[in-house]
Amino acid sequence: MRSTAYQNNQVGAATIWARFFPLMELLANIGVVILLVAGGLRVIDGPLTLGELVAFFSMIWYIIGPMWNIGFLINNYTQSKASGERVLELLHSYVHVKSVEDAVVLDKDTIKGHVRFENVTFSYADKEPALRDISFDAPPGKVIGLLGGTGSGKSTIIQLLMHAYNVKQGRITVDGFDIRNVDVQSLRSQIATVFQETFLFSASIRDNIAYANKDATMEEIERAAKLSKAHEFIMELPLGYDTLVGERGMGLSGGQKQRIAIARALIRNPHILVLDDATSAVDMETEHEIQAGFKELMRGRTTFIIAHRISSLKDADEILVLDGGRITQRGTHQQLIRQQGPYRDVYNIQYADRPQSGEDEPAVKGGTA
Ligand SMILES: Nc1ncnc2c1ncn2[C@@H]1O[C@H](COP(=O)(O)OP(=O)(O)OP(=O)(O)O)[C@@H](O)[C@H]1O
Ligand SMILES: [Mg+2]
Repeated sequence: MRSTAYQNNQVGAATIWARFFPLMELLANIGVVILLVAGGLRVIDGPLTLGELVAFFSMIWYIIGPMWNIGFLINNYTQSKASGERVLELLHSYVHVKSVEDAVVLDKDTIKGHVRFENVTFSYADKEPALRDISFDAPPGKVIGLLGGTGSGKSTIIQLLMHAYNVKQGRITVDGFDIRNVDVQSLRSQIATVFQETFLFSASIRDNIAYANKDATMEEIERAAKLSKAHEFIMELPLGYDTLVGERGMGLSGGQKQRIAIARALIRNPHILVLDDATSAVDMETEHEIQAGFKELMRGRTTFIIAHRISSLKDADEILVLDGGRITQRGTHQQLIRQQGPYRDVYNIQYADRPQSGEDEPAVKGGTA
């Protein structure tokens, strides 16, 4: 799409160039002819010597040359300015929060990963607040589910937890430390995130999983792959863990890539795990298996699951339903389906065309509020 726009613009520019460049050249050459005729006539008549005419002619190029160049320079300048602005925009887009002096360094061995948000309100630059008055408590071992439409603020909560932006209203604490006073590097190293889009390096599966933990042993790699349900399909590949993937390697399905990404997150043994729409590309059954694996590993650790599927959130200890940056509903799955509100609406839509007999509960209608 962007390439098409770029192509159209380039073709447009080339068209204008093709139309006007010959015209410019023609005008310049007509000028030369006029000069020659006028000069030649004066030489014939006598007031000008031939030498003077030739000297004049060679001098004129000293003027024309730089004038041409100015034209090119202006063109170049506008292009560079536009490119430069883009680069600066990119450089400024991610606020590089620096650690304060004498920041608290979280110790990997003693940290528990107790996350608290206290009345956090946050807006990007001068836009409308993306989060309004968000409070929750996520002690170690607790699973927090985040549900909400696109743009409701789910990813922003995670961005703030990673201290990608500074919170000005309210506060966020990890193990009781305000994260503004915590060393940024030590905070982020406790959090492992799996996103919807997975990037695999052009390397072996083994290196892709061990990417965040270079000295992981083969045993650790396999353990992580087993927990993320990647081990089985990896073993079926011709070279197993040595199979090359990524741009130059084997193509993997979206679900397989995601399982590798989850293994990559698990190998760091994080105290806080974030799954931002991470299991959307795997089918429900695999998702169920992966989550069962998590339960084992996440015991005593804090997990955030962002999902659009109720099935991904059902087992969370607390589900926060977000709308326009506000928490509109909160509670467990069982509590929320008994209430009238957005959660039950989503639930009914997602379970509407499922057989009533299976293990899943049928749609809930009416009832107590
Ligand atoms: N880097 C940013 N700069 C400015 N505004 C942003 C930025 N990131 C998000 N927003 C805005 O903040 C609001 C919340 O966005 P957020 O990414 O948290 O939504 P989300 O719930 O994760 O949505 P999705 O389900 O699409 O991932 C949106 O209005 C969005 O436009
Ligand atoms: Mg998001």
